[in-house]
Amino acid sequence: MIDILDRVRNKDLRSRIVSAEEAAEYIKPGMNVATSGFTSAGYTKAVTTALAKRMEKDPFKINLWTGASTGLEEDGVLAKVNGIDKRMPYQTDKALRNRINSGDVDYLDMHLSESAQFARYGYMGGDIDVAIVEACAITKEGNLIPTTSLGNTASYVQQADVVIVELNVTQPLELEGMHDVYVPLDPPHRLPIPIVKCDDRIGTTYIPCNPAKIKYIVPCETKDHTRPLGQIDENSQVMSRHILDLFDKEIKAGRMPKNLLPLQSGVGKVANAVIHGFVKSNLENLSVYTEVVQDGMFDLIDAGKLLIASGTALAPSPEGLDRFYKNIKEYRKHIIFRPEEISNSPEVARRLGVIAMNTAIECDIYGNVNSTHIMGSKMMNGIGGSGDFARNAYLTIFCTGSTAKDGKISSIVPFCSHVDHTEHDVDIIVTEQGLADLRGLSPRKRAREIIEKCAHPDFKPMLLDYFERADASTKHAQTPHLLNEALSWHQKFLETGSMK
Ligand code: COA
Repeated sequence: MIDILDRVRNKDLRSRIVSAEEAAEYIKPGMNVATSGFTSAGYTKAVTTALAKRMEKDPFKINLWTGASTGLEEDGVLAKVNGIDKRMPYQTDKALRNRINSGDVDYLDMHLSESAQFARYGYMGGDIDVAIVEACAITKEGNLIPTTSLGNTASYVQQADVVIVELNVTQPLELEGMHDVYVPLDPPHRLPIPIVKCDDRIGTTYIPCNPAKIKYIVPCETKDHTRPLGQIDENSQVMSRHILDLFDKEIKAGRMPKNLLPLQSGVGKVANAVIHGFVKSNLENLSVYTEVVQDGMFDLIDAGKLLIASGTALAPSPEGLDRFYKNIKEYRKHIIFRPEEISNSPEVARRLGVIAMNTAIECDIYGNVNSTHIMGSKMMNGIGGSGDFARNAYLTIFCTGSTAKDGKISSIVPFCSHVDHTEHDVDIIVTEQGLADLRGLSPRKRAREIIEKCAHPDFKPMLLDYFERADASTKHAQTPHLLNEALSWHQKFLETGSMK
């Protein structure tokens, strides 16, 4: 209890400390509940767990708005009791994914940079009824010191009339000072976001909060429940080397400085492995302007290669989180957390000339990319920030293994079963087979480059055959397709379990 009192520096607010169960009673069916949390970092744990227990006895649903995905004690427990009606803007939880794909949850998969603005304008179905926010301390003025993510929290606190603060004593106080909180004004009053370098600071180190809004303060002793990262496999290492070779050529051609341009790296095991691969390279003095800070970036900081990583959240493995806490005094010199409107800002990404590296589920022969849907219908995670960066980066790279499901699926297909990033946004596609550089190529030339460089040998002849028949049949049209055949590869997989 002493620890909690120390963390509530505003003495008047100490009387508002209650149990998670008492705070959860405030939440009523159909409420719009906006929370902190981005990846399995800085999400709410105690109140949402108590809420799920209540829902188990007395079923009802809420609408849940967050920064992005959250952890087991939020999305996981609420999905298990079928307690979520509308959910935005991103998720990665297996139980929640199943609820989305069975129609129980009304899921809005959104560009993360736009999600807070959508909420402010009321497009999500009304105002926020309550914001639940994890903090590591409350200042004398009532302002909130965020924890391992910032996401949409500052905007939600600004909008909400009622705020419940979860004070998480497992979050170290050294986090204070790592955040740069800046909520842009909405059009037509918006001003340029004055970030010209990754380490520019433009805001406050706390989330401004009128103490009168704080209804309850709930002690929480549960750590961020982060997920293990997949093993760094041979394929990912090869993809990382292809990207490093490309950078080498770009530097030699004078198109990039020796320390590159700011890097953005997406979520998932491939993205993490690609960044990890940079540790053994000759690259130095790197900077990162990204969404999530994964374990691979700690590797780069430890190797003395990464000067600054600007993001909105940590996304570490359990070992990565322990490593972060252990070395927080050093890492805090190199990491800044911003609201996702700023970390993912198209304006800033375009100004800085970011190199965007994200993962695809599948790419088609013309360079369209599917990042979200399995076989066209089932949601995997969501677009997250990949669109924020892909469209606005200086260089847009997508990686994917050339095959999935033990080689039964080709990740290079005639036609994507769902499109998140169009051929106009995609510069480079990388698989373990090779790297296709699509810059300056028209669609028919792109098709040959992608098939030649990226397709798996098992599928290359089939893809070439499709392209050549389409090309002949359309008499060399701009983007040749045989429409009745374009998605037959996916249909074949659904019917037989293989695209072969
Ligand atoms: N067809 C069908 N399934 C496929 C597939 C394909 N072409 N390619 C991959 N999959 C399946 C895998 O088999 C795996 O399924 P499983 O969970 O049942 O094992 C799943 O998709 C994830 O693939 P995996 O190889 O483990 O990739 P990953 O961890 O690197 O994640 C994405 C890849 C695309 C799902 C992930 O990067 C993502 O959600 N991206 C969108 C959001 C984003 O890019 N955010 C970053 C912005 S900063």
